[in-house]
Formats: sequence, C-alpha cells, structure tokens
Amino acid sequence: MSDSEKPYLHFPKWANKVPIIVATVGGLLTVYVIILLGYGANARTLNVGYAPVQPVPFSHELHAGLLGINCEYCHTDVKRAAYAALPPTQTCMNCHAEIAPKSKKLAWIHKSYATGLPVPWIKVNDEPDYVYFNHAAHVNAGISCLTCHGHINEMTRVYQAKPMNMAWCLACHRDPAPHLRPRNEVTNLQWTPNNKAQLAHDLNLTVATLPKNLGKYLMKRYKIPSTKLLTDCETCHR
Ligand code: HEC
Ligand code: HEC
Ligand code: HEC
Ligand code: HEC
Ligand code: HEC
Repeated sequence: MSDSEKPYLHFPKWANKVPIIVATVGGLLTVYVIILLGYGANARTLNVGYAPVQPVPFSHELHAGLLGINCEYCHTDVKRAAYAALPPTQTCMNCHAEIAPKSKKLAWIHKSYATGLPVPWIKVNDEPDYVYFNHAAHVNAGISCLTCHGHINEMTRVYQAKPMNMAWCLACHRDPAPHLRPRNEVTNLQWTPNNKAQLAHDLNLTVATLPKNLGKYLMKRYKIPSTKLLTDCETCHR
C-alpha cells in the first residue's frame, strides 16, 4: 500500500480553524436563542403584583403570620435544594384532618388526599428555563425570603413582590453585602439588625465584639464569591 492510499483522513491546514468557527457560530446561536426566548419571558419576570387565584384559598397571612408556622415546615427543601418545593397534601392534613375538616375551602385538599392527585397550585414567581436559580445558595448566604418575596407573612394571596428580571438579579450580584443577615434569621421576616443582643447570639459573638460593618463581615464569613464571578453570564445561564 503506497502512502497516498493510506486510509487516514488528511485535513487541509484551514481545518485547524474549524473548532474556532464552530465555537463562534455556536456561541452566537446560543445568544440568539436566549434573545428569542427572552422576548416571551420578559413580561412574566417583570410581573410585579401578579397574584393568580389558587385552587385552595391558602393564606400565608394566617398560617405563616398569625399561626407563626415556619416557612421551612412547608417549603422543606429551601435550604438544601435549588427548588424551594411546595408542600405535599399530607402536610396540610397534619392539621386539617382535625382543624376545619368540613370546610368547603379545603375541597381540593380532601380530593387530593383521597385520590393522590397533587393540588394544581399555580406558579407565581417564574423564571424562564434558560435561567439557573438556586434557593439553597442564596438562603445559606444569608439572604432572606423577605428580600426577594416581600412580606409573604402578610399576604392572604401570594403575589410577585419584585421584578425578578436580569437587571434585578445583577443589582444585588454587583453588591450583595447590604442584603446579608445571619443565616439562622432568613425565614424570620421580622428580623432587624438593631437588636444587638440577638445579633451577637446569632453570630456566636458578644455585643462588644460585633463587627462595625455587618455586610462586609458576613461576605467574608460566608465566603461569598467575587463580584466578577457573580456577574459572569455562565453563573446564571449554564
Ligand atoms: C402551612 C404551609 C406553608 C407555610 C408555613 C408557608 N408556605 Fe409558602 N406556600 C405554601 C403553599 C401551599 C403555596 C402555594 C399556594 C400559594 O401560592 O399560596 C405557597 C407558596 C409560596 C410562594 C410562591 C411560590 C411561587 O409559586 O412562586 C412563596 C414565595 C412562599 N410560599 C414563601 C413562603 C415564605 C417566605 C414563608 C414563611 C414566611 C412561607 N411561604 C410559609 C405553603 C406554606
Ligand atoms: C399547623 C397547623 C396547620 C397546617 C399545617 C395547615 N393549616 Fe390551614 N389552618 C390552620 C388553622 C388553625 C386554621 C384556622 C381554622 C379556623 O379558622 O377555624 C386554618 C385555616 C385554613 C383555611 C381556611 C379554612 C376556612 O374554612 O376558613 C384553609 C383554606 C387552609 N387552612 C388551608 C391549608 C392548606 C392548603 C394547608 C397546607 C398547605 C394548611 N392549611 C396547613 C392550621 C393549619
Ligand atoms: C435571591 C432571591 C430569593 C430568595 C432569597 C428566596 N427566593 Fe424563593 N424564589 C426566587 C425566584 C427567582 C423564584 C422563581 C424560581 C424559578 O422560577 O426558577 C422563587 C421561587 C420560590 C418558590 C416556588 C418554588 C420554586 O422553587 O420555584 C417558593 C415556594 C419560594 N421561592 C420560597 C422561598 C422561601 C421560603 C424563601 C426563604 C427561605 C425564599 N424563597 C428565598 C427568589 C428567591
Ligand atoms: C439580594 C441579593 C441577590 C439577589 C436579588 C439575587 N442573588 Fe444570586 N446570589 C447572591 C449571592 C450573595 C450569591 C453567592 C452565594 C454563595 O455562593 O455563597 C448568589 C449566587 C448565585 C448563583 C450561584 C449559585 C451556585 O450554586 O453556584 C446563581 C446561579 C444566582 N445567584 C442566580 C441568581 C438569579 C438568576 C437571580 C435573579 C432571579 C439572583 N441570583 C438574585 C445574591 C443575590
Ligand atoms: C445574576 C444572574 C444573571 C447573570 C449573571 C446574567 N443573566 Fe442574563 N438573564 C438573567 C435573568 C433572570 C433573565 C430573564 C429575565 C429577563 O428577561 O430579564 C436573563 C435574560 C437574559 C437574556 C434574554 C433577553 C431579555 O432581556 O429578555 C439575555 C440575552 C441574557 N440574559 C444574556 C446575558 C449575558 C450575555 C450575560 C453576561 C454578560 C448575562 N445574561 C448574565 C439573569 C442573569
């Protein structure tokens, strides 16, 4: 077999540039697709005040406010997973097997309990699929539900409290320090930084050793990544 008959492929020199061309075209396509999807999505993420009527008239004002049930009792995964999770019907039945068992307002809960069909809750806050969001990362960095969802504990029907668009995410990612609080206070929507004794207790410090600038201190203590990383496109678009 002579050299010219060898069954190997011999690429011309320009072929070395193929990966670069593919990467560039691919990159442009990705941006194009994101923009296309973006047009449909913008209205939704900007939807401040959106408050769909739910299949069960569940009131956070009553359950999280008046009765003081912790967010995590129902949104069990919020500190552990990307998705905060809605409670299964069993969680409601822990109380409603006994409390107001005949209430018509609980019709869907009884139906769901009897049939195993999930209650068709309607999503309020909804990012487009090309955006990556993660609850655990934020909550464990000391950002409260209050910062992003408003006074849920005063809502008889949940509404979207913040614009939740890219500009809103970036505004905090450029300077998260002023939004941080002790991790164990994230679900306490009444929290204030002015209660020094409580703050010292939360941080395992004494009132005398409390930092002057809480935000700066928590940035270090919770090892918050650099602004450069937090504003990188890849962080939210993977
Ligand atoms: C007793 C259970 C329960 C407790 C306690 C509770 N929630 Fe909820 N939450 C629900 C249910 C059920 C829904 C879905 C129906 C609705 O939107 O009202 C929901 C919906 C939500 C939503 C809207 C989700 C979406 O679709 O965007 C947010 C935000 C939320 N809860 C935050 C909180 C916060 C913050 C707390 C604590 C202050 C809390 N919840 C306490 C049961 C609970
Ligand atoms: C820790 C106990 C507890 C849990 C858990 C709980 N509730 Fe309640 N719920 C109550 C109490 C107490 C009331 C007030 C009852 C009354 O007014 O007679 C109530 C009232 C209600 C009412 C109003 C009933 C009426 O006829 O006025 C609805 C609807 C309701 N709850 C839905 C839910 C849903 C949905 C869940 C699960 C996501 C849930 N609750 C979980 C304790 C609970
Ligand atoms: C940094 C902002 C931020 C914080 C802090 C935050 N959330 Fe959310 N939450 C969001 C966004 C954004 C969505 C919509 C996510 C999506 O559609 O992918 C959301 C959605 C939800 C949902 C609907 C289920 C889901 O995961 O999509 C629930 C329930 C919820 N949040 C509860 C909470 C609770 C409870 C806390 C506090 C312990 C909290 N959130 C803290 C921004 C936040
Ligand atoms: C109030 C401040 C604040 C807002 C609003 C906010 N973030 Fe963040 N985000 C942070 C902080 C602080 C971190 C760093 C958490 C850590 O890794 O310690 C972070 C981290 C992240 C990460 C990296 C998490 C990981 O697992 O690597 C993603 C992704 C992210 N944010 C997406 C979003 C999106 C999307 C929005 C808007 C819908 C948003 N964030 C709104 C403060 C915020
Ligand atoms: C902190 C999170 C975050 C970072 C970082 C981020 N984005 Fe976004 N981006 C979002 C969210 C949330 C949306 C959807 C909401 C909206 O349309 O504003 C979005 C939407 C978009 C859209 C859709 C267009 C539109 O406005 O409807 C494009 C294009 C986009 N991003 C490109 C980028 C590029 C390029 C970068 C890097 C320079 C980047 N994003 C960095 C969160 C982020």
